[in-house]
Amino acid sequence: MQKANPIGVFDSGYGGLSVLKEIIGKLPGYDYIYLGDNARAPYGNRSFDTVYEYTLQCVRWFFDQGCSLVILACNTASAKALRTIQQRDLPGLGAEKRVLGVIRPTTELIGSLTETGSVGILATNGTVASNSYPVEIAKFYPGVKVYQEACPMWVPLVENDEYDNAGADFFIRKNLHNIFTVGKQIDVLLMACTHYPLMKDRIREHVPVQVRLLSQGEIVAESLDDYLMRHPEMAALCSKNGTREFYTTDSTTDFDNHATRFFGGPVKSHHLQIG
Ligand code: DGL
Repeated sequence: MQKANPIGVFDSGYGGLSVLKEIIGKLPGYDYIYLGDNARAPYGNRSFDTVYEYTLQCVRWFFDQGCSLVILACNTASAKALRTIQQRDLPGLGAEKRVLGVIRPTTELIGSLTETGSVGILATNGTVASNSYPVEIAKFYPGVKVYQEACPMWVPLVENDEYDNAGADFFIRKNLHNIFTVGKQIDVLLMACTHYPLMKDRIREHVPVQVRLLSQGEIVAESLDDYLMRHPEMAALCSKNGTREFYTTDSTTDFDNHATRFFGGPVKSHHLQIG
C-alpha cells in the first residue's frame, strides 16, 4: 500500500462535502481527508484576519496528516485566505505542498457561459466584500459585467435544516429580487457558496427559466482532474487506496447527521481539537 498522502478538502462546515462528493465522483481512486471547522463556522461574517488565521491552522493540520495537496472547498476561505497562504506561508511549509481554491476554476469558466455578458454571484458577506469574483472574472473576461448579492441568511437556513420551507422562500425571493433588479441581463447565476447547492431546487423556483443556475462542485472536480493531469508529479505523490476520512472540530454526531445530506451517503467522522 502506498504511503498515505490523501487529498485534503477543507470547509468551514458541511458545504465542502458537496464539492468532495463531485470530486470523488470524478476521481474515485484517490484517498481523501475532509475537515469541517464547524466549531468556528460560519466564516462568512468573519474578518479577513480571522478567516486567514483559522484556515491556515487547518491547512497546517492537513500537512501534518501527510497531505501534499489541499483544496479549500469554501469560497469564503478561498476569497480571504488563499492568496496569503500561497504567497506568504507555503514557501516555508514544504516545497511540494500545494493549496488550491474554488474561485479560480469557476472564474476561468463562467465568462464562456454567458451570452448576454452579465453574470450574477450569490455568496456570503465575506466573499462579496472581498470582491474576489469581479476581480478574477475581469482577468479572464474583461467585458463581462458581474453583479453580486450577499445572502447572509442562506447558510444559517441550510445549517439549521430550514432551507425547504416558506421562511426560507422569503429570503431566497428577497436576494434574487435584489440581484435581478440591478442585473436585468444576467443569464448565468453562480451559487458561490458551497452550502447553496442544497437549496438549489428552492432557488430554481424563483430564477427566470432562461437563466443558467450554476453550482461549483462539478467545475472544481473537472478542474482538479485537469490540474492532476498537468502536474503528474503531484498526482504521483497523492496516494490512491480509495480511503475517505472525515474530521470535524465540533460534535461528530451533529456532523454525521448533517453531512449525509451534503455528501449523499453515510459519514462517520472523528473529532479534532484545533486552535
Ligand atoms: N461554505 C462557505 C462558502 O463556500 C460558507 C459558509 C460559512 O459562512 O462558513 O463560502
